[in-house]
Amino acid sequence: MMPFESAPQTVFPLFGQGRHLLSVSQFDLPTMRRLFDLADTVTPIARRQAVCTVLDGAMLGSLFFEPSTRTRLSFESAFLRLGGEVTTTTGFTFSSMAKGESIHDTARVVSGYSDVLVVRHPEAGSVAQFAAASTVPVVNAGDGAGEHPSQALLDVYTLEKELGRRGRPVDGCHIAILGDLKYGRTVHSLLKLMALHEDIVFTLFSPPSLELPPEIDAYVRQRGHRVLVQPSAVAAVAGADAVYATRVQRERLTGEVTQAAGGDLLNRAILAEADNLDAILMHPLPRDSRPDSFDLSPDVDDLPGLAIFDQTDNGLIVRMAIFLTVLGVDAEAVRLTTKQRPWKASLQP
Ligand code: NCD
Repeated sequence: MMPFESAPQTVFPLFGQGRHLLSVSQFDLPTMRRLFDLADTVTPIARRQAVCTVLDGAMLGSLFFEPSTRTRLSFESAFLRLGGEVTTTTGFTFSSMAKGESIHDTARVVSGYSDVLVVRHPEAGSVAQFAAASTVPVVNAGDGAGEHPSQALLDVYTLEKELGRRGRPVDGCHIAILGDLKYGRTVHSLLKLMALHEDIVFTLFSPPSLELPPEIDAYVRQRGHRVLVQPSAVAAVAGADAVYATRVQRERLTGEVTQAAGGDLLNRAILAEADNLDAILMHPLPRDSRPDSFDLSPDVDDLPGLAIFDQTDNGLIVRMAIFLTVLGVDAEAVRLTTKQRPWKASLQP
């Protein structure tokens, strides 16, 4: 695995119709608000209370050159829920990249078969390279330790809803971010997107050598937020409105001291010691459930603030809104192509 390198700091245009989605730097607050409003509109379709055909005839090409379950399935489900079709390829083994084909050639070829592409690739900056050769919009579904913009959007959407339930705005909130802050691309994108708001307090805790890259720390501080690096999970979690825990990205480690990581990163005892059992609890998932994996313990699962499955549910609707935006479809077009479903899908007791 390549050592960590940040993706080149390219400036991408604001997100919208006919645009790639490569980085959270493509959002300002109004652009994010428009996306979230559209996500609210499509919620009944995501929840299967209504059926929509607005993307009839549109084709999504889904290319995942790195492991994924929820991101791939939620992008593909999002497109299908809107009436589109999906073609998919996973892993290098089954693609022509295994025969030495360049990112450029693959991108040019597959963009001839699709109206939008979703791409995940193990190297930072590679999805932008892919987009440069594509003839259709490309959505970055994770580029190595670089960015994961759709995840950050669904994280902020979820945080806004959960804080809203408690009568609190995102501005002025305190979020603790724990775990692998060096290789965790969801963290990189989340910090940058949260920085669009006002007066956020970030408390950080990571194992030694997995600290936040300095350029992301600087990015957030320059925008007037407070970043406090803490010596323990208890210290980071104390007083936080929300706690965002992440897995150690073992597949990206290049010999850093993983021996520092054992036991739990976050569990009920830590939250109790920090007197914060009611905090909103978030995680991008997957949660590493093996013993001593240094991740979020399942012993928090019955706490009132658990939002990890709200995040995955919200992922579907935020990704639906991403596709609608890229393809220039507004809420009215969605309404005109949506009908109530005649069937029932709920599990009976
Ligand atoms: C994350 C990823 O792939 O970056 N997963 C996801 O997309 N929800 C986080 C991880 O793998 O730990």
